Amino acid sequence: MNTPRRLFVTTALPYANGNFHIGHIMEYIQADVWVRYQRMQGHEVHFVCADDAHGAPIMIAAEKAGITPQQFVANIAAGRKPYLDGFHLAFDNWHSTDGPENHELAQDIYRALKANGLIATRTIEQFFDPEKQMFLPDRFIKGTCPKCGSADQYGDSCENCGAVYAPTELKNPYSALSGATPVMKSSEHHFFSLSDPRCAEFLQEWTHTPGRLQPEVLNKIKEWFAKDEEGNGGLGDWDISRDAPYFGIEIPDAPGKYFYVWLDAPIGYLASLKNHFAKTGRDFDAFMADPRTEQVHFIGKDITYFHTLFWPATLHFSGRKTPNAVFVHGFLTINNGEKMSKSRGTGLDPLKYLSLGMNPEWLRYYLSAKLNGKNEDVDFNAADFMARVNSDLVGKFVNIASRSAGFIAKRFAGQLGHMTADDRALVDTLAAEAARIAECYEQRDTARALRDTMLLTDKVNAYVDQHKPWELANPKNEARFAEQGLTPEATAQRLQEVCTTCLQAFRLLSLYLKPVLPALVARVETFLNVAPMAFADATSLLPAGHTIGHYEHLMQRVDQKQLDMLFEPPAPAAIEVSATNKSAAPAPAPVASAQAADAAGQPGGEAIAPTITIDDFAKVDLRIAKIVACERVEGSTKLLRLTLDVGETDAAGQPTTRNVFSGIASVYAPEQLVGQLTVMVANLAPRKMKFGLSEGMVLAASHADDKAQPGIHVLTPWPGATPGMRIH
Ligand code: 2FM
Ligand code: ZN
Repeated sequence: MNTPRRLFVTTALPYANGNFHIGHIMEYIQADVWVRYQRMQGHEVHFVCADDAHGAPIMIAAEKAGITPQQFVANIAAGRKPYLDGFHLAFDNWHSTDGPENHELAQDIYRALKANGLIATRTIEQFFDPEKQMFLPDRFIKGTCPKCGSADQYGDSCENCGAVYAPTELKNPYSALSGATPVMKSSEHHFFSLSDPRCAEFLQEWTHTPGRLQPEVLNKIKEWFAKDEEGNGGLGDWDISRDAPYFGIEIPDAPGKYFYVWLDAPIGYLASLKNHFAKTGRDFDAFMADPRTEQVHFIGKDITYFHTLFWPATLHFSGRKTPNAVFVHGFLTINNGEKMSKSRGTGLDPLKYLSLGMNPEWLRYYLSAKLNGKNEDVDFNAADFMARVNSDLVGKFVNIASRSAGFIAKRFAGQLGHMTADDRALVDTLAAEAARIAECYEQRDTARALRDTMLLTDKVNAYVDQHKPWELANPKNEARFAEQGLTPEATAQRLQEVCTTCLQAFRLLSLYLKPVLPALVARVETFLNVAPMAFADATSLLPAGHTIGHYEHLMQRVDQKQLDMLFEPPAPAAIEVSATNKSAAPAPAPVASAQAADAAGQPGGEAIAPTITIDDFAKVDLRIAKIVACERVEGSTKLLRLTLDVGETDAAGQPTTRNVFSGIASVYAPEQLVGQLTVMVANLAPRKMKFGLSEGMVLAASHADDKAQPGIHVLTPWPGATPGMRIH
């Protein structure tokens, strides 16, 4: 093999002001598939991300929640793991742009830009909220649209007529924070002098370097460079400072001034890598200085400007390595781009998807089958999703193993046999595609990689249909085969050859699908009794006599009921109905859906308990608890021991925790729970158990009939809740 590549790969850093939505998950899947493919080629990959912690919206949301921005961001960070683990997203590190590495790197980069003569200061006038005593970001100024007269429009654009304008053009402007009328106030701002001819010259060269950007992205960038006949347009200076109060990184030697969030956000890529290297004992500076290092960013199309102009210029003019490539993807729409209203659901909620027991690899496969490496939008269509997964993965792919593995196990003690020249020709056809499929993965054209792989599964299924192993295996057909001159021994040998051919082919197909379906293929590797497969393994076959392991069904079909539940409207309590518009509101959804009810029509499999009064309910003290530690209980397969922080302190004011045993070991690994918030009954009488004292109870949902609908689902609060808060 050639020298392995050294790749530093990132996805865009999500704002730490909410949970992931399905658009985040699509980007992470796209990058994760690419990273897994690179690793299967033997390359060295460092795949990192972080929370984008800074900026006015997060500061304001934290203030509303009554907590510090640091706490707010930590709460959001604590909720990331179930998504990342759930969709098999194998980031090497997840950090925060508020980490010390980012403060240091951002300040160093700024100093270098300044030393290079590319930082200027100018006094500008902006809207200021006299009550809140702060400058207002555009999104926090509202007023009447200057074009169409529509009230309550944002400071940057009108949702009614689409007009784009400066906040100062709004009629009757007001602060969305306090309602006060903003006043104009001047302040000194720091600018990155992108209008400096050195920047345009560098960016022209950087953006036009082959392989750096997709052609459609480069075309867009050319528009941004263009100047009109009067010399207007082109790259303008970039305002990189914000005045206190601001949650961000302080600008050196400029008291009360902070970096605008978009200055330090991409530096967070470097900070996360640096943090990862510190944890793993590697030299960050040496890695970044190595000319072999390739830096690659996966992003959505809405943040192209920042990543293809500001970011490379920031790096280059501070004397650092610039990105080798920026891979841009389009947006994800749901069910033919249909806009989801509040009352009809909010699209596809990734955690709900997982909690319904839907296989994460169905989604990985479906989205990968739609992504082609171009900057194009992708639509998730529920009917298409079900048809594609059921037909391709279950009907075509898994079927090959399920039609052949049993015979090898039962009739040949699990041993593979030889193949005839014709059999071998089929397997060779598959192996010959390895380089082409690899190239599709390299180009992020997973749509084509999967399409080509499925064409190969068609060939293998045609072979199975032609050679009918079930007929070869059926003793009733002995006479018929005898007529064709086949003794029972020869028939058995043919059965072994046919099934061997199927499994050799299945191994290659699994290898081609491995970047997309890592968990399923790990099970295939166990069943085939082979080491983790790399792309180079496509050139070899399993030897005759190789013993395979036990075959277990590899994938269930998507069930229409799961999709119905996934897109089911939220329960009435979650429907926002404005007071003035109640009559026009859609009828609330029934509390329990037909799908959630069991055959007897009971929600969750059991009747609602007898009515209680509000006073009865008030006796139960439910609190937000943080799971600070969690471990298995020796001698019990059911219990986990949880250490919970409920915000309590002892007489000396020292924080205390509670010990709670919970019967959830069958569904949660301790590491999945640590750091999560949950809900506990805090005033339940302590219970002495065989393993110790249990000081409360953690709340979890389950169906009454755990055979019909298995699973236990621990409750988690929405972001913003903190340990000790009471649930009313
Ligand atoms: O648009 C966003 O969600 C930003 N938080 C992306 C930042 S990417 C990088 F620059 F950090
Ligand atoms: Zn308007």
